[in-house]
Amino acid sequence: MISAPIQIASYLLASILFILSLGGLSSQESAKRGVLYGMIGMAIAILSTVLGESIEGHAYILIAIAIASVIGIFVARKVEMTSMPQLVAILHSFVGLAAVLVGYGSYIDPATAEIQGAEHTIHLVEVFIGVFIGAITFTGSIIAWGKLEGKIRSKPLIYPGRHIVNIVLVIISIFLCVLFCQAPGTDGLIYLIIMTAISSFIGIMLVMAIGGADMPVVVSMLNSYSGWAAAAAGFMLGNDLLIITGALVGSSGAILSIIMCEAMNRSFWSVIFGGFGNAPSGTAKAIEGEVTDVDHGHVADLLDAAKKVIIVPGYGMAVAKAQFPIREMVEYLRKEGKEVEFGIHPVAGRLPGHMNVLLAEANVPYDIVQEMDEINGDFDSTDIVLVIGANDIVNPGAEDDPASPIYGMPVLKVWNAKDVIVMKRSMATGYAGVQNPLFFNENTNMLYGDAKDSVTKIQQALVIS
Ligand code: TAP
Repeated sequence: MISAPIQIASYLLASILFILSLGGLSSQESAKRGVLYGMIGMAIAILSTVLGESIEGHAYILIAIAIASVIGIFVARKVEMTSMPQLVAILHSFVGLAAVLVGYGSYIDPATAEIQGAEHTIHLVEVFIGVFIGAITFTGSIIAWGKLEGKIRSKPLIYPGRHIVNIVLVIISIFLCVLFCQAPGTDGLIYLIIMTAISSFIGIMLVMAIGGADMPVVVSMLNSYSGWAAAAAGFMLGNDLLIITGALVGSSGAILSIIMCEAMNRSFWSVIFGGFGNAPSGTAKAIEGEVTDVDHGHVADLLDAAKKVIIVPGYGMAVAKAQFPIREMVEYLRKEGKEVEFGIHPVAGRLPGHMNVLLAEANVPYDIVQEMDEINGDFDSTDIVLVIGANDIVNPGAEDDPASPIYGMPVLKVWNAKDVIVMKRSMATGYAGVQNPLFFNENTNMLYGDAKDSVTKIQQALVIS
């Protein structure tokens, strides 16, 4: 057992490490260091919490940690990179459920009865708010998981007057909170249970109202909610570290959501209240032009003749695990004296930073990986763009077709390059389910096939030529 001052000092150290961790995650070069800080911080946090408990407590917590670690390692090893958003969503639901359970536990804990006066009321309000946020996070995250996993239809479920219904439910919850605080002993349990049912319903309806194309922002928003749920649990338990960590997760999740909303041209407030990403009205613009396809040799010839090449990877690169042959091809092209860069869209793939992680995994140099805003002006002076397994993020309809579901989302303007090669397996649509007029442009050629296979064959053709 450690003394209280040592525990406080350890909590402070863990908090500093968490802040350094978030700072580290802001750039690719320092991301690994950031993760390491986070891991050390979490180890210190767990150890100082466990060692601060009584001896009987140790055994329970150690058993729980052992079971959870085995499950965690098993799941993390098994999960595919492409299923990461689902995993994140389900992990958020655990945080929400934990906040609910801590709330109930804290309310029926006999020690709570010893707290008196204003302090008692404050504690009850903490419990109520913690359970409220926790239940919304819990059910909302399960629905998000279901939508991402394809178990629940991704079409938004919208009914008239739902905002009013939500507001009325929140007002009823506030009224229940007053009754809960006034109830003697544990008599308020019934109000807590009714509110849990109401907030669980709100969580379900908030996420059900959001269309599939907008799920990334929702996952990041639920990340933020889970942080606030953890902070609320910290208040209930009187644990400063949990409050700090929860606030860090809550605010960083909210900032990430704002950044993603800007990247997808969505209103932040409509995400919080749900129900955006609705189908647009009007008829989609007719697509003109013909689709032409080429073979690997033709692409190799174009690359041979090019001075400047930009590669735009998307979800298909992740599916095909094409990042490794891409790195080899890029190395080869750069040795041949060509300027090669990557253009990364903020929501390419299925999770924030998805492409950056994969390219880093394949040791692609960071300095040739550019963000959308940095590279969008460069396409005019580019000889050839290789769009590898990307679709929605290079859809010109987002700029000029008000009827498109992704209208308004900033995209990579690849069509401004001299030649565009799109590598995918078919004419199938991407995540948003819309056809891409880019494929029909005169300066676009399709190279059908699995991205890894295509890049490997282009590389072989390049070496031979
Ligand atoms: P998508 O629009 O989903 O397009 C990916 C394309 O890759 C598909 O059209 C598919 O066409 C192709 N593909 C799949 N497997 C392939 C393979 N093995 N080889 C070659 N091509 C393959 O991807 P994107 O352009 O990256 O855009 C991302 C979309 O996901 C956006 O709509 C975004 O809003 C959404 N989203 C993003 C996130 C985050 S946070 N990044 C999270 C959830 C959703 P074929 O089937 O014809 O091959």
